[in-house]
Amino acid sequence: MSHADDHAGTRRDFLYYATAATGAVATGAAVWPLVNQMNPSADVLALSSIRVDVSGVSEGTQLTVKWLGKPVFIRSRTAKEIDEGRAVQLTELVDPIARNENIVGEADATDENRTLDAEGKWLVMMGVCTHLGCVPLGDGAGDYDGWFCPCHGSHYDTAGRIRKGPAPRNLPVPPAEFADETTIVLG
Ligand code: FES
Repeated sequence: MSHADDHAGTRRDFLYYATAATGAVATGAAVWPLVNQMNPSADVLALSSIRVDVSGVSEGTQLTVKWLGKPVFIRSRTAKEIDEGRAVQLTELVDPIARNENIVGEADATDENRTLDAEGKWLVMMGVCTHLGCVPLGDGAGDYDGWFCPCHGSHYDTAGRIRKGPAPRNLPVPPAEFADETTIVLG
């Protein structure tokens, strides 16, 4: 390859990245009004602990709420997502640590150690990419059917574990528990 070709390639790459970054910003701007509408109310948001009604979250969908100023994903996983998450071996993971604040000490990043309930139906995690903090896209996005961060191409699996791309850690699981069958308390 001549020096001139080399230079052209570099410029193309730059344009590509610049376009990708612009797209990500536009997506974020379009998504936030929706997220804000789903929040319970302004006074509830001010509290460090919030109650979230998940009765309307059907299987295979997710709710995004704002907690302590950050988006939190609450997903009702399908059987396929659970199976996929549980079939993964620890040796396949980029980050083998659970990153689950509900578990005291350091635990393995098994699917079971990341979900809220024993059946693995409910997954609650921070919607903040561990690379530079973008909000990943969900609903089976990316190469591992979980979440995809378009900012620099990080792929998370159905348990929110980083599998490919520049992000170094799994999406963190915040303090959360069921108050009753249809209410999750965050914080
Ligand atoms: S912020 Fe998500 S990949 Fe860079």
